[in-house]
Amino acid sequence: MPASSVLSLHGTVSDLPPDKSISHRAALIAALADGETVIDNFSGGLDNQTTLAALRQLGIDVRQDVVSLDGRPTRRVVIASKGLWSLRPPNAFISCDNSGSTMRMLAGILAAQPFKTTLVGDDSLMKRPMRRVAEPLLQMGAIVSLSESGTAPVVIEGMKPLRAISYTPPVASAQVKSLVIFAALHADGVSELIEPIQTRNHTELMLGLDVEKTPFGNRIQIHGGRPIDAKPFSVPSDPSAACFIIALALLARESEVVLKNVCLNPTRTAYLELLDSSGAHLAFENMRVVGGEPIGDVVVARAALSVPLRISGETLVANVIDEIPMLAVLSAFATGAFELRDAKELRAKESDRIRALVSNFQRLGFLCEEFADGFAITKRHDEPKSLVKIETFGDHRIAMSFYIASLVSAHEIALSETASIPVSFPNFFDVIRPLQKT
Ligand code: S3P
Repeated sequence: MPASSVLSLHGTVSDLPPDKSISHRAALIAALADGETVIDNFSGGLDNQTTLAALRQLGIDVRQDVVSLDGRPTRRVVIASKGLWSLRPPNAFISCDNSGSTMRMLAGILAAQPFKTTLVGDDSLMKRPMRRVAEPLLQMGAIVSLSESGTAPVVIEGMKPLRAISYTPPVASAQVKSLVIFAALHADGVSELIEPIQTRNHTELMLGLDVEKTPFGNRIQIHGGRPIDAKPFSVPSDPSAACFIIALALLARESEVVLKNVCLNPTRTAYLELLDSSGAHLAFENMRVVGGEPIGDVVVARAALSVPLRISGETLVANVIDEIPMLAVLSAFATGAFELRDAKELRAKESDRIRALVSNFQRLGFLCEEFADGFAITKRHDEPKSLVKIETFGDHRIAMSFYIASLVSAHEIALSETASIPVSFPNFFDVIRPLQKT
């Protein structure tokens, strides 16, 4: 722990953001279902609101309200649709803003619509790789074009019906897996997707798909053209958002924090196991399964991380991909060391997160070595003498990770911006403030 941390953190968090991945999927599935879908505890994060706006632009009836559930104000989204073919041509380009999930997963659905759509995004999203999106959709018969460098605008002329496909994604990506599943729901026949490296499996669980373990990875079967019945969803809290509060609790001088109703799907909790094996004391209470998703309360108390975190191997990297910035900051501040390998995907996120982390750690006086697929921090060679300016690159997870650092660090840290944080965690500061007892 940094000797400097004077922070004491106590309390119960009942208002973590609802899971971003599950919220996106619930809205997209609802747009393809027959009837009215009620989604409770939908995320107010900007990325998820972008998905709702895109569906509205495509003619889907989306209502959003705040209702009282268990005495707490909760965001309820109601989506009415008439099944797989309910989308209508938009009258303009669809902006996916900062949301890679919106652009990629929606592309799977648009590939099956008999009209043309153009997907664009903000500066960050316009730089992110989209060939992984175009390839399977072209194989299924859609007409998809990208910029010369393989980025958005993604222009899709859909085909009805699409050809069924047998596909093995070349990258471990839950977004690519999901876009193929969404397209295959509209295909002529049974498709299969083989996933060599398991990624988050919310789409399969929410659609009740058959998943078989094979020596080559999970084999997912998707029957095209089958109607989807509207069913209610209730979104648990986001484990990737919980990671920031858990890290802060571990770095504080003293702490005991309870995080309520966290999604504990094993494809999302590898970071908790990593922390556990590095000396964190975590407890889990009220475990239950809702809609196939394990959910529980996470109890965390301050602990001295005894072992620096080392993250490598494709499976582990895929399963902690969104938590890496916070884990790196936590390990650096707790132990002075950290190592990441096999993570070149991290360069293709909202920012090049390897570059963003290395450059900011160097500003903070850490000695870093950068690799194509990761980086290592060997030690802290130089305590900064004056204010350290952190460049967030407009990336919500970089901003939140170094904001946590600023709360436990001896010297002053200022962030270039915090306006990106609501992309995934709109109430970030409101969650942290009442926990702080200095
Ligand atoms: C997500 C998958 C991951 C993750 C992103 C959300 C999802 O992206 O980084 O924040 O909801 O499927 P990739 O599929 O690009 O790995």
